Amino acid sequence: MRIGLLTGGGDCSGLNAAIRAVVKHGIGEYGHSIIGFRNGWKGVAEGDVRPLTRSDIRGVLDTGGTLLGTARYHPHSADGGLDAVRSTLENERIEALICIGGDGTLHAASKVAETGVKIVAIPKTIDNDVAGTDRSIGFDTAVHVATDAIDRIHTTAESHNRVMVVEVMGRSAGWIAVQAGIAGGAELVLTPEAPFDIDRIARYLRHRHRAHASFSIVVVAEGAVPAEGTSMEWQTKYGRFGEIVSGAISERVAAEIQERTGFDTRVTVLGHVQRGGTPLPSDRILGSRFGVAAVDALQQGRTSVMTALRGEEVILVPLEEVAGKAKPVPPELIRTANALS
Ligand code: F6P
Repeated sequence: MRIGLLTGGGDCSGLNAAIRAVVKHGIGEYGHSIIGFRNGWKGVAEGDVRPLTRSDIRGVLDTGGTLLGTARYHPHSADGGLDAVRSTLENERIEALICIGGDGTLHAASKVAETGVKIVAIPKTIDNDVAGTDRSIGFDTAVHVATDAIDRIHTTAESHNRVMVVEVMGRSAGWIAVQAGIAGGAELVLTPEAPFDIDRIARYLRHRHRAHASFSIVVVAEGAVPAEGTSMEWQTKYGRFGEIVSGAISERVAAEIQERTGFDTRVTVLGHVQRGGTPLPSDRILGSRFGVAAVDALQQGRTSVMTALRGEEVILVPLEEVAGKAKPVPPELIRTANALS
């Protein structure tokens, strides 16, 4: 079989493990040809191919990023995009596609699948907000990076008696914020799922510093928003590709805290550092498992599905059940993140 392979959307650590697994298993077990497309759906629309052999995936297991390149491009919303995709697939005699991506790429995958293309999707995103799977490739490494940063910020916060506001990624879900917040011992974690009241935050910090503490760490997901009717005015129109400005919410939260409490406050925006670097073993393993499962799915004739982790098991879920669906952080995790201060 000639299988097309692409990585779309924001990159993350663990993508190369998935690419490697598709190539190794696809060629080694079944004798398939793996035709990579550069830069996600854009490369498919433009016919930008890169056939992959075993030598292309040598030494990539522990590397960050994606050897295929990636882009935020969606054929269904570009002029003539779906036709261009179809014609490349025909020209290259691609019989099925494996698409590795987050919500945007998977949404595009479901649109392309509707035109009759055989597709298996693999979820990746540091935001961990793809529905239907417990975890997506890249999330664990991002949480590790963010936790390490919070650990480092702890010592400087304590030395200077400051409130440190740390912004992590997460446009529409606060998965990194809650997990890194818990692991790093943050006092408060602000997420898109639980809109905050800045006056309560300021009251809490004043009380905490009066009672026993000399410093505090507040982790803010970039998509966090104040609750309606509270005193901080803030409008964020975030859609699929976010009109979220990196650093904006954390700068504002820090300014409001400083104004209300008088505490010396600083901001750290972790940004893309969360997306890079050596993947943790768990992301290499997840990428490898999803890559093997995707190739096996095609071999068994299962298409329009996504590989997913449920508990300890890798399963296949229908693409239409997950594409475009939200996966908010459950209230229990948010509560835990804010209950340990
Ligand atoms: O990959 C998801 C994500 O990391 C979001 O959390 C973040 O808002 C966005 O990507 C940043 O995207 P870009 O790299 O295109 O600026």
